[in-house]
Amino acid sequence: MSYEGVRVDDASAQVSDVTANVTANVAVNATAGVEPASEFSKRLAVLDVTDFSVDYGVGDATVRAVNEVSFSLERSRVLGVAGESGSGKSTLVYALTRLLRAPGVISGGEAVLHVSREDGRVEALNMTTASEAALRSVRWSHVSIVLQSALNALNPVLRVRHEFDEVLKTHRREMSRAQRRARSAQLMALVGLNEDRLARYPHELSGGQRQRVMIALALALEPELVIMDEPTTALDVVTQREIINELNSLRSQFGFAMIFITHDLSLLVELADEIVVMYAGRIVERATAADLYATPMHPYTLGLLNSFPPLSGERRELTGIPGSPPDLSDLPSGCTFHPRCPYAMARCERETPELVVDERRGRSVACWLHVDHDSPPTPVELSGRRLRATVPVGAREEAQ
Ligand SMILES: Nc1ncnc2c1ncn2[C@@H]1O[C@H](COP(=O)(O)OP(=O)(O)O)[C@@H](O)[C@H]1O
Ligand code: SF4
Ligand SMILES: [Mg+2]
Repeated sequence: MSYEGVRVDDASAQVSDVTANVTANVAVNATAGVEPASEFSKRLAVLDVTDFSVDYGVGDATVRAVNEVSFSLERSRVLGVAGESGSGKSTLVYALTRLLRAPGVISGGEAVLHVSREDGRVEALNMTTASEAALRSVRWSHVSIVLQSALNALNPVLRVRHEFDEVLKTHRREMSRAQRRARSAQLMALVGLNEDRLARYPHELSGGQRQRVMIALALALEPELVIMDEPTTALDVVTQREIINELNSLRSQFGFAMIFITHDLSLLVELADEIVVMYAGRIVERATAADLYATPMHPYTLGLLNSFPPLSGERRELTGIPGSPPDLSDLPSGCTFHPRCPYAMARCERETPELVVDERRGRSVACWLHVDHDSPPTPVELSGRRLRATVPVGAREEAQ
């Protein structure tokens, strides 16, 4: 079994590779590729991502699926990544963890994982350049990833117990068989499953139970960063809510940092400390979950919020977003959201807005509405001041 590569678009290819399917842990070797961390990152960051880009293909056929993405994730915090299907969320995390397979290639930037050692030292590993040996040695124990295809990922011919055994045997060689059994039962209990499920085959478990098994496996070695790619997307709302509650409680218990990916922005609001919204491979807005929900500034964020019912709290009218995400090989000019944006202005078609940090508010947005010169007054529902809003009919005409 290996984690050498996972096709983003080919979930079924993963079914026979239990370990790769379940959770791919990417952690850091004490030797190869390790650099001293800065004082700042020693204290705070678990992951620093800078101008990170990922392409598919080569030559004229190249498409950029992740475009100059930057963020920093602090220890014990949850970063939500939201965006419709095709916005580059899975590509981003597969590339960050070096699980991306051809034709995907990291085309720019870097990602540095800050790894806590048992002796208290923090070491930095540049994930972009780390050797395979360095990556392998850190898998499972420092960062784990629950893949998007997790529901189908358990090996159908093996009992669940085998999955736990495999991870523990490889990474905790000192553990006896009895200790492995006890640890497996403990992990199952953590995610609300009875240990008798360990003797079951995957097809004997419900979708929600299988997903909990995946999460338990991801936590098996208590990594400091857990990445979850749409772990609840295929589940019903009640099970989603239960799993989100469990993740919240596990996080406060163990203090791991988490990157949680979903197309359902309303769900993220329940779980994340901060959220980045991606569109066509770029981050278009970043804010705390509370700010993003209360006062979205990017029209796409507002559209996403109006696309999904909140898991709890006040109901709002769901209006969705007109049109569909762009074809990466034929991106619209200027702001790539302009053909779908109810607020689009003439300049939106010509010029690409940069992600601009608003220091005062501690948030970032890439939209001409929030650049003072040459723009009409920012619509009140996107001003970052009003509490919740919906896109008004005819707003596009008014803004032009
Ligand atoms: N193996 C691949 N070859 C070419 N393009 C790909 C491949 N995998 C994904 N893509 C493209 O990259 C873009 C981002 O995909 P993905 O990261 O899966 O988005 P998300 O997870 O947000 O749904 C999509 O437009 C998709 O078509
Ligand atoms: S830059 Fe223009 S098209 Fe893009 S989101 Fe802002 S208003 Fe809409
Ligand atoms: Mg995806």
